[in-house]
Amino acid sequence: MTSSTIAPVTGVRMDPQFFRFDEYDEFDPERVLDVLRGRRLGVIFRGVIPLAVQQDLTARFWNSQGLTRRTGEPSYHVGAYHWNKPVDTYLAETSKVSEQVMDVLNCDDSPWHWFRDRMNDRLAGDGARLRTAEMNGEQACPALVRAWNKEGEFALEPHEDEAQCRDPRQAGFEVQRVLDYEVCATNMCIEHEGGGRLVLWNIRPDDDSRRRFDILHSGFSYPPRTLDGIERVNVDIRPGDVYVFNGRHVHAVDATRGNRTAISFLLGFIDEQTVVTWT
Ligand SMILES: [Fe+2]
Repeated sequence: MTSSTIAPVTGVRMDPQFFRFDEYDEFDPERVLDVLRGRRLGVIFRGVIPLAVQQDLTARFWNSQGLTRRTGEPSYHVGAYHWNKPVDTYLAETSKVSEQVMDVLNCDDSPWHWFRDRMNDRLAGDGARLRTAEMNGEQACPALVRAWNKEGEFALEPHEDEAQCRDPRQAGFEVQRVLDYEVCATNMCIEHEGGGRLVLWNIRPDDDSRRRFDILHSGFSYPPRTLDGIERVNVDIRPGDVYVFNGRHVHAVDATRGNRTAISFLLGFIDEQTVVTWT
């Protein structure tokens, strides 16, 4: 098969009632629950981080002692990520950097704090709560603060967040139980010059597709041409926006100008009483 006839990604496509992004001017935990419960693809709350808070967070990020350049990737981050590694490695990396992550997040009116507080107020009504994922008494990283500035058609290539939750090197890590529900992502945009839309395709890839690209436990990445013809939504992202979406769907960030910096974490229900977050 030549690249011009490369077969499309196969998997589950959702109906139009689900496959859409809702947009609001104020944060509403009920709408986040719509995403966590699999009733909606995603939701974006526009401009809910005031400019002064964006600037404070951005300065704390770029001045952080924990600022790291990802090897071989044009991105900077503060925090640890579980993707594609043994869980012990992730937890050890997290314990080294958590304090520096919290030094970035602990500003006045921090969206990281109010997001969790508001979600917990709402979940308490159902006898549930949101907390950081744990294993053997150790905590997942509270957030990954990250700036992507890769050049090209996609600043972050098409991928999905489900495969990484099945890595056998992470067996027993409670995030693997999120697969019984929905695997979701929260992003808080604190710095963004232009471009860099969030793109989501209406496809939840199957294992045949993952094996074809040798990404069974990473979900990264899907060649863009294999997504041609699949319905997609493009979401403009601006500084101050907070958005939550279903990471089972293939998603990407398209061409970006300048720094695009966000506070990110993954989240999902693991049982009816518990939503966990991790990175
Ligand atoms: Fe993702």
